[in-house]
Amino acid sequence: MNPGSTGTAGSVDAAHFRHVVGHLASGVTVITTETGARRHGMTASSVTSLSVDPPMMLACINNAVPTARAVSMSGRYAVNVLGEGQGELARQFATASSDKFRDVAVSTGTLGLPLLDDALAHLECEVVETVTGGTHTIFLGRVASASAGRGQPLTYFRGGFGRFEFARDDEVYGRVRELLLSRVYPADHALPLEELANRLEVDQAAAFYALTRLSSDGLVRRDPDRGYVIAPFDVRTSDETFDARLAIELGVIALALGRVTDDEVAELRRRFEVMAALLVGDRFVDFHGYLDANYAMHEYLVSLARNPLLTSTFGRLSIKSVMTRSFGSTPGTSQKFVAAQGRLVDAFERRDPEAATRAAVDYCELAKERVREILAFTGGRL
Ligand SMILES: Cc1cc2nc3c(=O)[nH]c(=O)nc-3n(C[C@H](O)[C@H](O)[C@H](O)COP(=O)(O)O)c2cc1C
Repeated sequence: MNPGSTGTAGSVDAAHFRHVVGHLASGVTVITTETGARRHGMTASSVTSLSVDPPMMLACINNAVPTARAVSMSGRYAVNVLGEGQGELARQFATASSDKFRDVAVSTGTLGLPLLDDALAHLECEVVETVTGGTHTIFLGRVASASAGRGQPLTYFRGGFGRFEFARDDEVYGRVRELLLSRVYPADHALPLEELANRLEVDQAAAFYALTRLSSDGLVRRDPDRGYVIAPFDVRTSDETFDARLAIELGVIALALGRVTDDEVAELRRRFEVMAALLVGDRFVDFHGYLDANYAMHEYLVSLARNPLLTSTFGRLSIKSVMTRSFGSTPGTSQKFVAAQGRLVDAFERRDPEAATRAAVDYCELAKERVREILAFTGGRL
């Protein structure tokens, strides 16, 4: 746990409590009710299911807000579960106003309660009991009607709205990434969302998530007329990526070389040896194995700075995809790469920053040069 976010037992002040409890992610609902001819509605996240048999919900409402009095008077409330993309609606119903329902399409439910048409799900409840807790009243409601549509929920976490991210999204992202890196599609090929979703047999939301993430990886780009297109791999992408890696590694050499432990250097050496074994003569024996080992060695080197920001920035360079799209297109390579990285490890063992800097610069230049050779061979684009 972060030391700045602890509290003393028995003395948790309100601001600290709000901060800590904000880490509990929740869904977002709008509680609605009606008194006379007047509709009331408020955004609420302290809403949960209570029991299945009988079906019951509970909603915790601040006694100071008008909706609390309205629910007490009507003895009924509806829970409108908001979907992703309805953050604005949540804000509208969280702001005190005499016209909460402006521009909101509403239907009347079986208990005569206002139901928001575009909500993800609706539950109409009859209040069977109330419990007072601090400043709030907990309205226990027996569910009289329930319905749900399709879509994903809006979430609330640490004071901000977000979307529910399925573990499946990550998996689909990995599959699309593989697909692009295996160069099934040529550069500049337009990749319609529907086609991709059908090919992978996933829904379009997951395919969209993958493409959005891949566009920040630089593997696809968004064309105003053609939608997502496969980004060509060119000298600029290669130079920028390898230069960025070099800048990070030079920073690590300057920051950390003087204080690395013997165990850390031994681990760097071990990772280097694993990688070196996968290059026999001037050929990759197992390109993907080499790639993983190369990445593991450099990621470890960067982690020696003990700065998570630096390590995550390194991760975002997508070094592996750049290497796959360039070096991976031919089994031939050169022992020069292993030699330069070997000098880098030697320099760490000797705690020699000048030699480490020279080795890192040489390794970067070799990589950029090799990509130029490969690109020249393939007509400038991969
Ligand atoms: C994401 C979010 C969740 C909220 N959850 C609750 C809640 O569970 N209970 C509550 O009393 N107020 C909650 N509020 C605050 C009310 O929405 C806010 O006080 C609103 O103005 C009350 O409406 P009213 O004044 O028209 O009754 C929440 C606000 C936001 C933005």
